[in-house]
Amino acid sequence: MEKREKFASRLGFLLISAGCAIGLGNVWKFPYITGKYGGAAFVLIYFLFLLILGIPVLTAELAVGRASQKSVAMSMDVLEPKGSKWHWFKYPAMAGNYLLMMFYTTVAGWMVYYFVKMAAGGFVGLDADGVGAAFNHTLGSPAINIGFMVFVVISCMFIVAKGLQNGVEKITKVMMLALLGLMVVLAIRSIFLPGGEEGLSFYLKPDFTKLAEYGLTEVLFAAMSQAFFTLSIGMGAMAIFGSYIDRGRRLTGEAICITILDTSVALMAGLIIFPACFAYGVDPGQGPGLIFVTLPNVFNAMPGGRLWGALFFLFMCFAAFSTVIAVFQNLIAFWEDLTDLPKKKIVSIHIVLMLILCLPCALGYNVLASFQPLGAGSGVLDLEDFIVSNNILPLGSLIYVIFCSWKMGWGWDNFMAEANTGDHGVKFPNAIRLYIKYILPLIILFVFVMGYISIFGQK
Ligand code: PHE
Repeated sequence: MEKREKFASRLGFLLISAGCAIGLGNVWKFPYITGKYGGAAFVLIYFLFLLILGIPVLTAELAVGRASQKSVAMSMDVLEPKGSKWHWFKYPAMAGNYLLMMFYTTVAGWMVYYFVKMAAGGFVGLDADGVGAAFNHTLGSPAINIGFMVFVVISCMFIVAKGLQNGVEKITKVMMLALLGLMVVLAIRSIFLPGGEEGLSFYLKPDFTKLAEYGLTEVLFAAMSQAFFTLSIGMGAMAIFGSYIDRGRRLTGEAICITILDTSVALMAGLIIFPACFAYGVDPGQGPGLIFVTLPNVFNAMPGGRLWGALFFLFMCFAAFSTVIAVFQNLIAFWEDLTDLPKKKIVSIHIVLMLILCLPCALGYNVLASFQPLGAGSGVLDLEDFIVSNNILPLGSLIYVIFCSWKMGWGWDNFMAEANTGDHGVKFPNAIRLYIKYILPLIILFVFVMGYISIFGQK
């Protein structure tokens, strides 16, 4: 049998897993969801979910990946008890990875476009309305949406084709280190904007009255879904990286490291964006366009803004690309696990397939704008995002947890043995067995069902 590829270093593993986790979820979604649900109170709930759900599920995924040495396309086949049907999980999980990319590449394309436009001075002299109009123009243009999406798909596939160590690991490592550095600089810059204090207090001082406006259950559902989304857990996107590491370290410690890196970037994204919203009078609750209509204003008002702005969007591209590359790596690994086709062929097929699958979202704000599946103002992106973030990820996380803690699955003992194999790192505590086995699944289920009722119940 061919030997499985491995990462060259632990730093590579951590930065790539963090690269998969850190993405548009942190820099684009987290700020706008936080804005929508009222700031700091939402952030607190989200933190709580990261801690009580995110870290255990991430550890479970890494353990399944490392124990099986397979992607989610085959991992349960290897680990499940004979005769059970856990391996059916591969279908929703694989579908989830494809669906995620179907909208993610379009938003990543907006980032690339904004980088180019910023660098070319395309925002110079525009006022806040002008910047808003420029975003509407971007959405309305099929050529921009398709063109940049195609660029994202082809360039990321190309990197994956170069191999795990030479392509994915090499490129992602550099991008992530650069991203982490620049975010700090920009956050400091934004905090000291005149008029930004109000934004800081919106972001950091909990105001629980806001929760009442949407209803606590909807907010809980949004916070839980965001916790799963930001850590990339519930459909094997992180498990794959467990399959590329050796048994030198215990997995809980690695899961904590990844969560800390991911959370720092989300927090910094908020520190960059909210002060800027208040300083320039942009509504923080306005949805997916948030960073595209806020930040060009900030950079316009800043000495050297064109350069800073271009750098900012370049690094947003890095965040998005590192996730796309990670998930593409996973998609290719599925078919390497499932078939004997050579990698080159799988990649070529996927370039064509992805370009087709990604089209509806790229056309969603223009040609297909009248398709509003989730109510007025929604679009293809919202539908695809809803299926993945609010369904596949929470339910998939539930399956990972049950698989790792119940006898009818892989079971607690096997899970613990894998998670705690290694000479360094935090151990998974045996004392929380009952919590993992019963309470954690119930929390996910409860929030999921209540969330559904609150979203669809009143319609
Ligand atoms: N965590 C990624 C982000 O924040 C999104 C993602 C979700 C990636 C699920 C893979 C799987 O952008």
